Amino acid sequence: MEKIKKNKNNILWNEAKKLILGGNSLFSKRPENFLPIFWPAYFSKAKGCFVWDLTNKKYIDMSLMGVGTNVLGYANKKIDNAVVKNLKKGNMTTLNCPEEVYLARKLKTIHPWASKVKFARSGGEANAIAIRIARAFTKQSKIAICGYHGWHDWYLSANLSKKNSMKKFLLKGLKNDGVPKELTNTVYTFEYNDFNRLEYLLKVKKIRIIKMEVIRNIQPKNNFLQKVRKLANRYKAILIFDECTTGFRQSFGGIHKHFKVVPDMVIFGKAIGNGYAITSVLGKKRIMKKADQSFISSTFWSERSGPTAALETIRFMEKNKTWETVKNQGKKVKFIWNRIAKKHGIKIKIFGIDSICSFNFDNNQNNYFKSFLTYQMLKLGFLASNSVMISICHNNTILKKYERALDKVFKMISEINNSKRKKISLKEAFQGFYRLN
Ligand SMILES: Cc1ncc(COP(=O)(O)O)c(C=O)c1O
Repeated sequence: MEKIKKNKNNILWNEAKKLILGGNSLFSKRPENFLPIFWPAYFSKAKGCFVWDLTNKKYIDMSLMGVGTNVLGYANKKIDNAVVKNLKKGNMTTLNCPEEVYLARKLKTIHPWASKVKFARSGGEANAIAIRIARAFTKQSKIAICGYHGWHDWYLSANLSKKNSMKKFLLKGLKNDGVPKELTNTVYTFEYNDFNRLEYLLKVKKIRIIKMEVIRNIQPKNNFLQKVRKLANRYKAILIFDECTTGFRQSFGGIHKHFKVVPDMVIFGKAIGNGYAITSVLGKKRIMKKADQSFISSTFWSERSGPTAALETIRFMEKNKTWETVKNQGKKVKFIWNRIAKKHGIKIKIFGIDSICSFNFDNNQNNYFKSFLTYQMLKLGFLASNSVMISICHNNTILKKYERALDKVFKMISEINNSKRKKISLKEAFQGFYRLN
C-alpha cells in the first residue's frame, strides 16, 4: 500500500471524530463509507460536478453529488443568485416569507391531486410530519414500511420487534438504544415486490398506513405499485410515497407520475432545493386537515433560503426539462459500465433507476474491488465508487473522461483476477447499509 500521506483532509477528519458525534452530521458522508484514510473528507469549493478538497486537489464527482441534492450541479449560478438576492434582503424575520406560498402553489400545480403542503428542512422531519398526520387521520399507530425514512423514533421502532425488524436492513446489528420500547410492534417492514406480506399486514395486522419509496434499486414486478394502490383503497389505508430521493430527478415532480399511481401523501426533499435545505409533504385535503388537531411547527421551517431555492430550482428544471437529461446521462453511465466490464471480462450486476444507478462486482471480492476502484479513481481525479447520482453537469465530455479512467481501473482489476497483478492491501470501505428496496 502507498505510504499514507497526512494532509489537511484526514487531519481534520481525525479531529472531527473527537469533537463531533460520529465525526459529522450525515452517516453517508463519512469517508469510511467510501474508502478509509484516502477519501478526502472535506471540500473547499465546488462547481458543476467538480469538487476541490482542502489541499486544493480537484475531483470530478462521479459519486453522490451532494447525496442526491445537486441535480443542477454544485453552485448553480441561477439558484445561488436567487438565494443570495433574497439573503441580502433578510432571511428570517418576525413575518413569513411569501416564497413559501409561491412554492406551495407550484407544487400543487405539479400534483393537482394534493390540496395542502407542509414544509420542513430535512427528509426525516418531513417523514415524521407525514406519519403524525396519517396517524391523526387513521386514529391508528401501526405503519407498514418499505424504504429508508430517516432517523426518528417512529421509524427505528421497527427494529424493536424481534420478528419483523430491520436488523437485516439499515445497519446490521444496529442497537436500538434510546428508542422507546413502548413503540414495539407499531412499525412493520415489507420488502419491495412482496405483495403478499403487505396484504397480510393490512388484512391480519389491520395496518392502515403504508409508507414506502416508489422505487429504488429494484424494479417493480407484476404491477406491484398499482396493486399496492388498489390494496390501500380496499382497506381504506393511506398510501404515502417517500420521494425524498426520487422526486424531481428523472421526472418533473414525483417519480410516481411515471407509474401513474397517485398516493394520498407524498414527501419531497433533496433535489427540490439543489443543495439548499427544503423538504415538503403534500397530501389530500381530507387527510392534511387533520394536522390542525396536532401541533407541527418549527422555527427554521419558516426561513427564506429553502423555498427561494426550490422555486428557482423547479423553474430551471421545467424550463430545461432537466429530468430528461439526467435520465439519458444515467442510461449512458450504465452503458459505459456494461461496455468496460465486457471488454475486460469482469462480471458486474447493474441496478437502480437511471438517475441513481449502481453496480456490484459479481464475485466474492465485491467490497475489495469497490474499494480498489475508489482508491485508483481518486488518483485519477474522480470521486467514485459503485453508485452515481446523476446531475445535468454529467455531460458527454465528463462521461468520456470517466470512461477513460474507469477503463484503466477495470483493466487493473482484470489483471488482478488473472493473477497478472498483485493485490494491494487496502482498508476496505464500510459495507453496511442495507435496504428493503
Ligand atoms: C427516501 C428517503 N427518505 C428520507 C430520507 C432522510 O432524509 P434526511 O437525511 O434529509 O433526513 C432520505 C435520505 O437519504 C431518503 O432517501
